[in-house]
Amino acid sequence: MSNLRFNGKVAVITGAGAGLGRAYALLFASRGAKVVVNDLGGDPHGGGTGQKAADGVVNEIKQAGGTAVANYDSVTEGSKIIKTALDNYGRVDILVNNAGILRDKSFANLTEDDWDIIQNVHLKGSFKTTQAAFPVMKKQGYGRIIMTSSGSGLYGNFGQANYSAAKTGVVGLANTLAIEGAAKNVYCNVIVPTAGSRLTQGLLPEDLYQELKPELIAPVVAYLCHESCQENGTIIESAAGWAGKSQIYRSKGCLIRQRITDPATIESVQANWPEITNMKNAVPLVSLSASRVALVEKLEYLRKGEQTPTSSSEGALFT
Ligand code: NAI
Repeated sequence: MSNLRFNGKVAVITGAGAGLGRAYALLFASRGAKVVVNDLGGDPHGGGTGQKAADGVVNEIKQAGGTAVANYDSVTEGSKIIKTALDNYGRVDILVNNAGILRDKSFANLTEDDWDIIQNVHLKGSFKTTQAAFPVMKKQGYGRIIMTSSGSGLYGNFGQANYSAAKTGVVGLANTLAIEGAAKNVYCNVIVPTAGSRLTQGLLPEDLYQELKPELIAPVVAYLCHESCQENGTIIESAAGWAGKSQIYRSKGCLIRQRITDPATIESVQANWPEITNMKNAVPLVSLSASRVALVEKLEYLRKGEQTPTSSSEGALFT
């Protein structure tokens, strides 16, 4: 198998001064990409700034014979990060939205400041940086964008209401960018990593912390960004040298009224609850239009006063 290369490509990695971002930057550079190493250089909770983090990774890349330039702006000023790529290398092909901080508190104790700073860095930062790169990528007819979500976003986690909300927000952003960029070969996918890093120090058990190396996730992100990868709008979870796809499934559900003229009642919801929530024949939802087609079909059945279909063909509407 020949090595997958990124020669001639320019990769922007946010929050690349440490942890996962550093691992991504080193891998892209080692495979021929010119890399913009962005890092604000602050503390894990959003305080402070510094140039050391980004400079350190740029030096590592250069010492290994690669090409990189540092950028110290916050992702909330994403256009400046993309400008660094354009000013130095004339293009931007790959954007990994990775920068992140934590402000963990139980929901009852969460302040508006804790809420705002997390939305700003994770969700607005991904928006600002991506919006600056998106038209350049569309014009080039090539672009690969990664959003970084989290298990906390997909499943929830005690003490992370602010972070969970932002990390689910970037999934919604990716879903729509995948649709808007597809025709121009600009794809957007989501990585859900678990790695030992400054953010997870003290949160993960020590033995697990040591095992969960960022370098084990970097190849998954790099593959998603390669021109040979046609994946788009997908959530990939990865850790410890494992990777798998996550998807939203919907139960087959059932009608809670018999005819178009019947009302829906609380009692009919109660009576049908086991079937509404029965995941035995659940199917993955692949698009809004597939979801709507099924809805229109349900309305047709109601209009005709017929029972909802029970055949497996209904599931095919969603697949
Ligand atoms: P890390 O703390 O090692 O690295 C994050 C980097 O982002 C830091 O170097 C920091 O200076 C930089 N940064 C923070 N705010 C910034 C801003 N406004 N602008 C530019 N740079 C900024 O953390 P780690 O673990 O490598 O996290 C990377 C991403 O992965 C984050 O988005 C995090 O939420 C996400 N993530 C990490 C998990 C893990 O297990 N480590 C789990 C799930 C998600």
